[in-house]
Parts: sequence; C-alpha cells; structure tokens
Amino acid sequence: MLRLGPYVLRNRWILAPMAGVSERPFRVIAQRLGAALCPTELVSSAGLVRASARTRKYLRRDPAEQPFVVQLFGGDPAQMAEAAAMARDAGADAIDVNMGCPVPKVTKNGAGSALLCQPERAAEIVRAVATAGLPVTAKIRSGWDQSRINAVEVAQALEAAGAAWVAIHARSRAQGYAGRADWSLIAKVKAAVQIPVVGNGDVTTPEAGRRMVEETGCDGVMIGRGALGNPWIFRELCGGPPPTAEERRELVRGHFDAQLDFVAETAGEGARAAGGGAGGPRASASLQGVRQFRKQLLWYAHGLRGASAFRQRAVTLDDPREVRAAIDAFFGGEGSEREELPGGEPELDLDLRGALG
Ligand SMILES: Cc1cc2nc3c(=O)[nH]c(=O)nc-3n(C[C@H](O)[C@H](O)[C@H](O)COP(=O)(O)O)c2cc1C
Repeated sequence: MLRLGPYVLRNRWILAPMAGVSERPFRVIAQRLGAALCPTELVSSAGLVRASARTRKYLRRDPAEQPFVVQLFGGDPAQMAEAAAMARDAGADAIDVNMGCPVPKVTKNGAGSALLCQPERAAEIVRAVATAGLPVTAKIRSGWDQSRINAVEVAQALEAAGAAWVAIHARSRAQGYAGRADWSLIAKVKAAVQIPVVGNGDVTTPEAGRRMVEETGCDGVMIGRGALGNPWIFRELCGGPPPTAEERRELVRGHFDAQLDFVAETAGEGARAAGGGAGGPRASASLQGVRQFRKQLLWYAHGLRGASAFRQRAVTLDDPREVRAAIDAFFGGEGSEREELPGGEPELDLDLRGALG
C-alpha cells in the first residue's frame, strides 16, 4: 500500500503531472475514474513567491482531492521552502519536487532535470521543502543524458534527505519523450532504496501498467500520455470496463463545461493578468476556455471513426454552444465507433509542443 503522510492511497495508479493538462477539471475526472492521486502540473516556486496571480491559480483544489499534491519546480532551496509553505497554506497535503523537466527555460536556473546533475543540491531542496511540514516526494528522470545515467544515486540521496517516495520517468533528459523508457532502471532504483518507488514511462494500456509492476517491482505507476483523452485507463486498471460511447460523450461534455467554469473562476487571476479581451473578462475567459479545450477534443476523438474531419472542424469553433453541439453530434454519431485500421491502433500523435517535465 502506498502511503503519503497520513494518507493511504486506495491503489497504485497515479496520474502523471502534465503541464496544460493536469488542471483541476481533469484531475477530478481522473480521480473519479479511479486514479489514487493526481498531482498538479509543475508550478514555479519563483512565480509563487513573487505572488504572481497567474501562478496562484494552479493551487486551486477541489474538495474531493485528498490528498492534494502540488508539484513545485525551482533551483533555490530557500525559495522552494517559501513556495512550499505557500502551497501548504493554500491546502496542499504534500509537495512533489520536479527534477525531470527538460525545458531549457527551467534547467538553466538549476531546476527540473538540472538537479539530476547535482544530487546533493537535489537533496538540499528536499530538506528545505520539508520545512513546510508536509511529506515531500520527487519526480526524477534516469539521468541527464546517456553518459550520465544516475537515477540510483539521485534516489539514494533523496531518500537520505527524507523524501517520502521517488517517482522515476525512465528516460534521460536528453531523450525528451522519444525512444522507449528503460524500465530496467526502475527495477534498479527499487532495489537500491527502502522508500516506495513509482515507475513512469510508456504505460499506455492497462496491461502495460500491470506489466510495469511485475517487471520492476515498483510500488506505484504514473500514467501520462496514456490518460490523454482516455482517463478510463484508471477504471480499467482497477478492473472496470472501457467506456461506452454514451459515457464518452457525457464525460467530454462535462469536462468541457468544467474547464469553462474553471477558466471563468480563475479569470481574475489568469485572463486579467493576460490583459482581458475585447468582450470583457468573462467573454475573454470563455474564448480562452474553448481554445484551451481544443487539444482535449482531439485527444478524446483519437482512434474514433471520422476523427480527422471532426478535428478539422473542432479547431475552427470559438462559441461554446457550437462546441457542445459538435461534441454531441460527433461522440453521439460517427465517433461513437472505433476506427478499424488495418495496422491496428494508430500511434498517439500528440502535439507535445510546449510539453514540460
Ligand atoms: C503534455 C505534457 C506535460 C508534462 N508536464 C509535466 C509536468 O508539469 N511535470 C512533470 O513532472 N512532468 C511532466 N510531464 C512528463 C510526464 O509527467 C511523464 O513523466 C511523461 O509523459 C512520461 O510518462 P508517459 O509515457 O506515461 O507519458 C509532461 C508530459 C506531457 C506529455
């Protein structure tokens, strides 16, 4: 059983933190479908400490989120400690430290995967964050690049610093999201530390999730891209069925509405900070919500009949009423069936521009 402070998680399946995806509406959906934990996307410690309104919106939790885990990134221990205290005061039950983000904007400040190059510094950050009085977890990669695969050393340093667990995305920083994750490294980390180890990388089916547990002995499994457009993967991992067409239509509608509500609720923080818009903050928030949701629509349509025509139309719609009508028409009509492709499942053609982590 995975524990996090006073919480005993109900299973081992965890939604991986994903920038632009792991917002409150999607976290709530994944949790409802069985995910034991859904950490926030990475949140800038510098942004929090500067009291940036845009950053604070990432700390909004739903009452159902228990425990609520906030992922922070930063390279400065004092600033990370201050940000952790702010997250705690906003309701966080635990802090996850991002030690995997490969994006230069993040690594050049000694944060994200740059911490893999300095295990002692990474440990110092865990100790600093722990001063907020919450359990601290860390998410690492296998190493900086092929010549510096040091996940075992990093995990041991983090364990000695008091980390509650370590999650490992079994790719190096240099690999980004390409190539295959090397699960054997998850097994090596598991063998080298006493704290729980959460494996991550390339779990796109329930079978792969179970296989990762068998092959590596990991205590938990984080699922990222495999949950995009398919949060039912968590229900299936818990032994439940895949979605019916009607369930999919309803969930997409509900997700869309929740996303618009979330954007409207945080408009004073996000949209106003971005300069509002011609029709006032509410109209601008609605447009922002619709545009943000487009990628989700594409992922939900993935593998369904008529998906490419639906995609082309979906990206032209700005009016929420039109989007709702299009969702009903597609997921209730042609898209209620899976596409039969001669070569089996198509590759996930996810647009990962701007992906962090
Ligand atoms: C769109 C996107 C955004 C991501 N953002 C984050 C992030 O904010 N924090 C983080 O630790 N990892 C982030 N990641 C990495 C994922 O958490 C995960 O480690 C990676 O996708 C590998 O798992 P998968 O093969 O199950 O997708 C992101 C990945 C994607 C695809």
